[in-house]
Amino acid sequence: MADIRSVGVVGGGQMGSGIAQLAAVHGLEVWLHDSDAGVLTRAHQSISSRIQRLVSKGNLTKEKGAEAIRNLRCTSTLDDFCSVDIVIEAIVESEEVKKNLFAQLDKIVKSSAILASNTSSISITRLGSATNRSSQVIGMHFMNPPPVMKLVEIIRGANTSDKTFNTTKVLAERLGKKIICSQDFSGFVVNRILMPMINEAFHALYTGVASKEDIDAGMKLGTNHPMGPLELADHIGLDVCLSILKVLHSGLGDNKYTPCPLLVQYVDAGRLGKKKGVGVYTYGKTRDEIKP
Ligand code: NAI
Repeated sequence: MADIRSVGVVGGGQMGSGIAQLAAVHGLEVWLHDSDAGVLTRAHQSISSRIQRLVSKGNLTKEKGAEAIRNLRCTSTLDDFCSVDIVIEAIVESEEVKKNLFAQLDKIVKSSAILASNTSSISITRLGSATNRSSQVIGMHFMNPPPVMKLVEIIRGANTSDKTFNTTKVLAERLGKKIICSQDFSGFVVNRILMPMINEAFHALYTGVASKEDIDAGMKLGTNHPMGPLELADHIGLDVCLSILKVLHSGLGDNKYTPCPLLVQYVDAGRLGKKKGVGVYTYGKTRDEIKP
């Protein structure tokens, strides 16, 4: 089985920056790329400060922290991925954009490299078909935030080889994660179950069943969820939730996945959740909430 020593991460947003941090802290050489130079600069700053925080809390030695920061390199060109052992893609949840990236990466990375996607819902088989190495294409779905959440969902495309699966599994375990395996159907396991619940919470809010606070409190106190579904949607990103529901709807062909009009309206209004400071809730210093 190939030993993974270096990782290319594409996308420096909430997931990509967390995956890059995790890999750097676990002693891997990391290249991080984002098409937006500003995002890349902010990702480097936030990863460095999160690593410093781990050191000051005593969760990482000073030496390991310094090594992790040295392990991380940000780049504005994908050409720097030519010698990485695996690429983990964490860009926007769009099949077309991801396929273009996979086709591009296929021409840049070495022939033995694995191309993994952190997609929440999109077909790994179809991403593989955009390359000439579909046996080396796999889904590696981290949870948010990647340095904290214990799970990685591994998705095999129709052509993914055992070698690619085993190497990816070993990498996930080296990063301290538990894995579950899913067949390649829209939304896999986690989002197939989670997104209909989030959508239903939006419907409950939209139709006036209860306030957002009561919907969230109901699920936290009544079913022991650590976060309510609307809070969780803000944490994930409402744009990401909407994209996943669209993939579930078109891939599984059932109207129960039709996105709630209120979710669509929030995304249209730019209320994308925590990352924009406003979604279902607002996240200013005062944490004032916007009335839905
Ligand atoms: P995000 O919006 O925070 O970050 C996406 C980043 O990708 C942006 O910085 C953007 O500039 C960059 N980007 C877009 N197109 C690009 C391209 N062609 N080349 C290079 N960079 C490009 O999104 P987030 O939340 O990090 O999600 C990323 C992926 O991870 C999506 O596929 C999403 O479904 C998945 N995911 C998201 C989770 C969440 O809770 N937000 C959880 C698990 C998976």
